[in-house]
Amino acid sequence: MSSSPAVLLEQVVKRFGAITAVDHLDLEVPVGSCFGLLGPNGAGKSTLMRLLTGQAVADEGRVEVLGHRLPEDSRAVRAVCGVVPQIDNLDDELTVAENLEVYARLQRLPRDERPAAVRRGLEIAHLVDRADTPTSELSGGMRRRLLIARGLLHRPRLVLLDEPTVGLDPQIRQQLWAQIAAIRAEGTTVAMSTHYIEEAERLCDEVAVVYAGRVVATGPPADLIARTVGSEVLEIAGSPGALADIETQARSEGLRTRRSGTTIAVLDAERLDGQAWATGERRAPTLEDVFVVLTGEELA
Ligand SMILES: Nc1ncnc2c1ncn2[C@@H]1O[C@H](COP(=O)(O)OP(=O)(O)O)[C@@H](O)[C@H]1O
Ligand SMILES: [Mg+2]
Repeated sequence: MSSSPAVLLEQVVKRFGAITAVDHLDLEVPVGSCFGLLGPNGAGKSTLMRLLTGQAVADEGRVEVLGHRLPEDSRAVRAVCGVVPQIDNLDDELTVAENLEVYARLQRLPRDERPAAVRRGLEIAHLVDRADTPTSELSGGMRRRLLIARGLLHRPRLVLLDEPTVGLDPQIRQQLWAQIAAIRAEGTTVAMSTHYIEEAERLCDEVAVVYAGRVVATGPPADLIARTVGSEVLEIAGSPGALADIETQARSEGLRTRRSGTTIAVLDAERLDGQAWATGERRAPTLEDVFVVLTGEELA
């Protein structure tokens, strides 16, 4: 069982009435990695996460977590898996420490291990001095830290984080990135979903681009970028008319382009050879470019 991947999905389908939220999806998350599901709202990320925790049951296909089949072995999965949901479900009526205690009990930690686990949780969340604070009085960033720490209380081998920093300001996002990097450094496998490019690029060893319930590409961010959009992008600003001309010109020379707001990005710019029309800002390609090339849509 130790050679099983952290997550294995084969041809998984999940429907809600007429909506197919997960559509014949294949995915393999290696043990020890920090793996990102990157996709826009509605792509099926949360549904996928819920299939991995046994909160939802697939209509078709095979779902395995650390070698345990779902939904059959959901109890075994819960024991080895930590869950940080997209929607905060902390109990506002309880204090910070009480939220951790309740969870320790739910996770069936032996009674004599619970105080140490709660203390460790408070440390991970950097909330030791807030142990007795009612959860309703925490800031958004503190709540997120507590939610993540709670998911780690039983020392899971795999942590599932669904959009861990959504809606938080950039400074708090940085703190949470450090928290996630620390989890990873301890050897815990992390599978997270996000629609923030920067988050995936910074944290993840491997990314699956998810769109309309499917994985459209997967690999380490740098590989995905190199394989999909080349090594350089030229960003050109101008009037809509000028940009349309550049688009035509670039395409006639076999270069791919993408519009974003007031600029046009010419991909494959490493192949340019001093053409007069090609003046602008050179930049490194990103996963956003990958996403646009693969799906024809913007991620943000
Ligand atoms: N419980 C549900 N009932 C009906 N439709 C759902 C339910 N959960 C998700 N969906 C639909 O499935 C699709 C994928 O949703 P979701 O998994 O939440 O995407 P994401 O997390 O990537 O934003 C969306 O079209 C959403 O409206
Ligand atoms: Mg979601």
